[in-house]
Amino acid sequence: MKCRKCGGSAALELRRHNAAFCSPHFVEFFKKQVAEAIHKHRMFTRDEPVLVAVSGGKDSLALWDVLIEDGYRTAGLYLDLGIFDYSQESRARCEAFASARGQKLHVERVAEAVGAPIPEVQKVTRRPTCSACGLSKRYLMNRAALEHGYAAVATGHNLDDEAATLLGSVLHWQTEALPRQSPALASTHAKLARRVKPLYRLSEFETAAYAFLRRIDYIVDECPFAKGATSLAHKDLLNRLEEVSPGAKHNFLFGFLDKARAAFERLEDVQLRECSACGQVTTGEICAFCKLADQVKRRTGPSSAAAGMVE
Ligand code: AMP
Ligand code: FES
Ligand code: ZN
Ligand code: ZN
Repeated sequence: MKCRKCGGSAALELRRHNAAFCSPHFVEFFKKQVAEAIHKHRMFTRDEPVLVAVSGGKDSLALWDVLIEDGYRTAGLYLDLGIFDYSQESRARCEAFASARGQKLHVERVAEAVGAPIPEVQKVTRRPTCSACGLSKRYLMNRAALEHGYAAVATGHNLDDEAATLLGSVLHWQTEALPRQSPALASTHAKLARRVKPLYRLSEFETAAYAFLRRIDYIVDECPFAKGATSLAHKDLLNRLEEVSPGAKHNFLFGFLDKARAAFERLEDVQLRECSACGQVTTGEICAFCKLADQVKRRTGPSSAAAGMVE
């Protein structure tokens, strides 16, 4: 195999693009895909500070690396979920990455905001772990962006993540989730930061290759509360499809974004207001995060402990 760019010996084959690249030209290809995502969806400009949500994994650290290399104004945000050694090791990776590159890393402890670390939240609320976790992450990312003055929050969601989420929504025809599936969600309220996913054009394999070639030290382990079996099954299904039909994942996601997403946009606007407890944006009186925190407080407080934490 030969590099599409220089004709030298190729290090990677990208069947989806019917191309192969040597290491330096793969890195160049990767950066171009990120640049195209940023420009096409007007994610942010070089003058706007961007908060990169980093988990310590390959995707988000690869994203931060590209943005720093491209001269964007960035800072990282690590949310410490309090998930045993996994959270400590992830945090250490993010701190080492930030200090090696002279970048600012904000760290927020979920336990401080919600009242208990994620494993405890799961026990007292009996919600699926990832649902309370995802809700807390989204809330804290937005709050941190507002507090510290960042125009946008960037996450490391890649093509595989986005295609699997889309498949999950389509299988259940969750029509209210479909318009929200986008590489860039504009701010629709003064208290909502823009949310962007500059890696949506790149597969998990490609971000892993980039992280490897750039010698990024990331945490390989998955969260011990591994994602619901269904989301893994969706990824697996798409990978099998990709095997027999290279580009299937890409066509599924991009076809949706280009041709179908608009059809699911809601006609009437949802009324956004400020949560009467915390002031962040919600559609009800009290936001879902405050409800969760309240539930955790009531069930982990001294009186509930004495009562054996019964329902
Ligand atoms: P996940 O939902 O775990 O697949 O993560 C998707 C994206 O959310 C990652 O690429 C990160 O940008 C962000 N993220 C996940 N976990 C954290 C965390 N603990 N702190 C900050 N950002 C996170
Ligand atoms: Fe949230 Fe695993 S990362 S439950
Ligand atoms: Zn080359
Ligand atoms: Zn609230």
